[in-house]
Amino acid sequence: MTDTLPVLEINGLHKAYGDLEVIKGVDIKAHKGDVVSLIGSSGSGKSTILRCCNLLEDSQQGEILFKGEPVKWKGTGLNRVPADPKQVLRIRTNLSMVFQQFNLWSHMTILQNVMEAPVTVLGRDKHEVEMKAREYLDKVGIGDKCDVYPAQLSGGQQQRAAIARGLCMEPEALLFDEPTSALDPELEQEVIKVIKSLAAEGRTMLIVTHDMKMAADISSHVVFLHQGLIEEEGAPEHLFKAPKSDRLKQFLSSTVSA
Ligand SMILES: Nc1ncnc2c1ncn2[C@@H]1O[C@H](COP(=O)(O)OP(=O)(O)OP(=O)(O)O)[C@@H](O)[C@H]1O
Ligand SMILES: [Mg+2]
Repeated sequence: MTDTLPVLEINGLHKAYGDLEVIKGVDIKAHKGDVVSLIGSSGSGKSTILRCCNLLEDSQQGEILFKGEPVKWKGTGLNRVPADPKQVLRIRTNLSMVFQQFNLWSHMTILQNVMEAPVTVLGRDKHEVEMKAREYLDKVGIGDKCDVYPAQLSGGQQQRAAIARGLCMEPEALLFDEPTSALDPELEQEVIKVIKSLAAEGRTMLIVTHDMKMAADISSHVVFLHQGLIEEEGAPEHLFKAPKSDRLKQFLSSTVSA
């Protein structure tokens, strides 16, 4: 199951916003089929790490490797930026991101939303993409919503459309940033079900979540972040049942009672 080279690897990642250092040397690896969850309190750097991984944010130090291929940089420190736009596009289109707020285009139907990037960014054949898009919309349980606009869907349906959009890129990995936290509890469940089915299929995923139950159920590895550093990490059965650090113990007790 596990290929030798991770799909995604970050080593010694540092990221600052001006003088504020928010990621202070973080290493994370996701091999094919791994589901890595990032947990931690608000402001600990979870979203920033995801955004650095797919190069939506620049970082100042450390390596980011996609299937063993290091991102090429030019400049150093606060001036460090990716050197090769083609490489950035290739990596970014292989790491589909699903956001908390869905980010669907309101003026496009659900089908058009799902088809947009594979056709315009990847230049894939429109008819083939349409077939795939319908397949993925079926898979997430909203195959009957192809021709409606996002505003006509519930939050849970919109998020499932956003997941279908991510899948339609046929990426190497999916990155989720709190995919259920904008949803009411009953709508949350339908999205969790889809994410669980993707995990069961062996998709590689990095998931930022506040849902400890989902993280415990589907993760192969859990990373607990505290103030821009990994405080503790491990298999979910160890991390959740026998946390070592006091900070993690405190975090878990506050989220369980929340
Ligand atoms: N664009 C920005 N400019 C300046 N500081 C930022 C920016 N984005 C994030 N930060 C800061 O970086 C730190 C990490 O933020 P990040 O959004 O990664 O946290 P998080 O763990 O995802 O939190 P949450 O659980 O609230 O989503 C925080 O201190 C935040 O204020
Ligand atoms: Mg966040």
